[in-house]
Amino acid sequence: MATSVRDNQLHGAGIGLRLPHLAELVATRPNVDWLEIHPENFLANPHATELLLDLARDYPVSVHTVGVSIGSADGFERAHLDRLASFVDRLQPAMVSGHLAWSTFGGHYLNDLLPLPYTDETLGLVADQLARVQDRLGRAYLVENPSTYVGFAGSTMTETDFLNELVARTDCRLLCDVSNVFVSGHNMGFDPYAYLAALPSDAIDELHLGGFTPEEDDARPGGTLFVDTHAAPVAREVWPLYRAALRRFGSLPTLIEWDNDLPPLSTLLDEAAHAARELAAVETKVVRAAR
Ligand SMILES: [Fe+2]
Repeated sequence: MATSVRDNQLHGAGIGLRLPHLAELVATRPNVDWLEIHPENFLANPHATELLLDLARDYPVSVHTVGVSIGSADGFERAHLDRLASFVDRLQPAMVSGHLAWSTFGGHYLNDLLPLPYTDETLGLVADQLARVQDRLGRAYLVENPSTYVGFAGSTMTETDFLNELVARTDCRLLCDVSNVFVSGHNMGFDPYAYLAALPSDAIDELHLGGFTPEEDDARPGGTLFVDTHAAPVAREVWPLYRAALRRFGSLPTLIEWDNDLPPLSTLLDEAAHAARELAAVETKVVRAAR
């Protein structure tokens, strides 16, 4: 049984609530610190929303949208932001987050989180749209670093420079997906530890951990591309990077993100328990260092 929500703050390790697990969560109230949901799964599903509101009495909830495209050159869909704002008003989640990406153009949803060139022009566009999102929601929005497969020759700054500047211009917060850092580092050939070191640590409020799938890289014969499928356990090599993130950023709330080939709920809870042990080790170190 979960503890009741006291301060609506995220602490410890959470799991992504996916609809196939909703009834079991409602019935069993397992021991997990918090839940993250995609609002797009609930906006047109009043029954699921009622069950979620019931769960929100026992678990802090984080809202992670995949439908607000802050990187689209022709603007995001205002009607979707309005729907999200109403949903957030009703649910009162601890946090609201989304992606540094674009996924709509000309009113069409592309069902993918697509990459941006990191230039002054893009920065101005994303900062303007992010400011509008935060104004409409009346709260800070967390921006998540993407998993990357291609870069742009026209980029004039690194992704971490872009994120630092976005924070400075908009007072947004950041969600650091540690698995995305690992995946992108492998695919793009950068050091994931150096990437963590270049992020503005004071701006990070949440961490993600998810599984990826190695695939043959068509662009590099014999090479392997890591694809951020969210369809596997957290990779063994990602846990040391996660520990480095905790040492740098502190014991931030951490989500186990699993969307495809969904396993039994117990598997997600086991992964969250692993993250919780890592979090507890960091907290212990901080306490000992302070004595
Ligand atoms: Fe993520």
